[in-house]
Amino acid sequence: MQAIIFCGIQASGKSTFYKERFFNSHVRISLDQLRTRHRERLFLDTCLKSQMRFVVDNTNPTRAERAKYIRMAKAAKYEVIGYFFESGSGDAVRRNSQRSGRFLVPVKGIYGTHKRLEKPTLSEGFDKLYVVQLMPWGEYEVWQVPE
Ligand SMILES: Nc1ncnc2c1ncn2[C@@H]1O[C@H](COP(=O)(O)OP(=O)(O)OP(=O)(O)O)[C@@H](O)[C@H]1O
Ligand SMILES: [Mg+2]
Repeated sequence: MQAIIFCGIQASGKSTFYKERFFNSHVRISLDQLRTRHRERLFLDTCLKSQMRFVVDNTNPTRAERAKYIRMAKAAKYEVIGYFFESGSGDAVRRNSQRSGRFLVPVKGIYGTHKRLEKPTLSEGFDKLYVVQLMPWGEYEVWQVPE
């Protein structure tokens, strides 16, 4: 079974990538949508118990935040795959400015997350790790970090 953990600052393209690549196959676990850690935990537990594939679609900028999901997924015998959405804060601010409503996040938040970001590494426990870049023409470039 597959657990996918996203990492990337706001407006780096995570949710759009989820919709394009995983909408038909993986449950989306996102704090944006679930709102509380309590609900997140309930959904996560249900996925793990029922052996559903899932994607954690949060910014997850620190190693500690990712470690929680990695630990839980490994305990449930999942294969754990990381996707790092690499984006400069300037590009993210520009993409963010094209959003509206609750998807338009404070610019300060983007810089803040960028500052806190600890790039994911295979040594955290990922079985596979990919880097994703959203190109200016709208395509995603994806490559795998060598094992
Ligand atoms: N393929 C694409 N071509 C052009 N623009 C895109 C593409 N994918 C995403 N975008 C734009 O980039 C912005 C950010 O995308 P998205 O909402 O997927 O980011 P996110 O990483 O999920 O952000 P957040 O952490 O705030 O949820 C959006 O405004 C979206 O319109
Ligand atoms: Mg999103």
